[in-house]
Amino acid sequence: MFEHVQAAPPDAILGLNEAFARDENSEKINLSVGVFKDGSGQTPILACVKAAEQSLVQTETSKNYLGIDGLPGFRQLVPSLLLGDDHVAIGEERIACLQTPGGTGGLRVAADLIATLLPNATMWCSQPTWPNHPKVFAAAGLRVQNYPYLDMSTNQLDIEAMLAKLETIPSGDVVCLHASCHNPSGVDPTPVQWQSLATLISNRGLIPVVDCAYQGFGNGLEEDVYGLRTLCEACPEVFVCNSFSKNFGMYSERIGGLTLVAGKSETAKALGSHAKACVRANYSNPPKHGAAVVAEILGSTELSQQWNSELSGMRDRIHHVREEFVTKMSQRVPDRDFSFIKEQKGMFSFSGLNPMQVDRLRNEFSIYIVGSGRINVAGITPTNIDRLCDSIATVL
Ligand SMILES: Cc1ncc(COP(=O)(O)O)c(C=O)c1O
Repeated sequence: MFEHVQAAPPDAILGLNEAFARDENSEKINLSVGVFKDGSGQTPILACVKAAEQSLVQTETSKNYLGIDGLPGFRQLVPSLLLGDDHVAIGEERIACLQTPGGTGGLRVAADLIATLLPNATMWCSQPTWPNHPKVFAAAGLRVQNYPYLDMSTNQLDIEAMLAKLETIPSGDVVCLHASCHNPSGVDPTPVQWQSLATLISNRGLIPVVDCAYQGFGNGLEEDVYGLRTLCEACPEVFVCNSFSKNFGMYSERIGGLTLVAGKSETAKALGSHAKACVRANYSNPPKHGAAVVAEILGSTELSQQWNSELSGMRDRIHHVREEFVTKMSQRVPDRDFSFIKEQKGMFSFSGLNPMQVDRLRNEFSIYIVGSGRINVAGITPTNIDRLCDSIATVL
């Protein structure tokens, strides 16, 4: 039956990781996959995560199934982290929160929910966006289209083009927005731009799905959710898919959430019940460990403080690497302006390298960058930065 099936093409980003693993050059550099690395090139387990795990080993008494929507303590803490403890939607119980397998799991459940309740809706993604967005949404049966986002000539947000496009989208369609640290560009709306976006999205009757994969990696835990809080003030219904892969460094534990904010408590309950039906038919119920760790940390003042300081450390390293990279590139290629990389947020930036230059970096220097020229700046370390900048200067 399957003899004539051809192999599926490798994933654009994870496929590069596989090629990197096969590369025998001892000086190879991987700036492709979005994983934080410390100054020694490691992706460490946070000390607060280790402490929470140790406590769980002592206290956990059962590995029984969780409910379809996950660990209750986790589901209570996540909306507070996203919206603030005293948010009116929490007080009025206008929220349903489900624990999901990573941010991707949350996006898929949100997409299944939309496909169930609004089968004719189109999902609108930024151009460019994380390449898995259109795949996840299309896999749920949604039609996917793009709105303009980045002005490639200036590396700035093209807010006029974005607003003009959103103005034409039919009411009842869904708009996917990145809460902060836009992947792949690192370019986020300013607070004033968020206000304009929220007003327009609300006036047009569009439903925002906010992908919050990097809370705390841009400017801070509060600052990075300004946009999503602004949307929650303006719009009656907002779906938030958040990931704890990056900000807790728990990539392999697959932990995230889907928070459904509605205008009325009954609506939130109904939405939550449909989301649970989607989960039941997909992975039945989520794995426990990651949620138990996050709940242990967010529920403890001491561990939360430790997490905050470790998160600040990751954020500071990224800012510092951005500055170093710009300084070193301006010494090597003075006539080319890389200063925009300093302004961008999170792990990613568009380097401005074209696909031919990206190919040369891989083939001649064993430096792995996504074909679009997106680099993970967190992969740059004191040991590899000079070789990286020299190589980029050569291909330029
Ligand atoms: C924008 C965006 N959304 C979602 C995800 C997925 O996160 P997770 O690994 O938690 O599924 C990523 C991961 O790279 C991302 O960059």
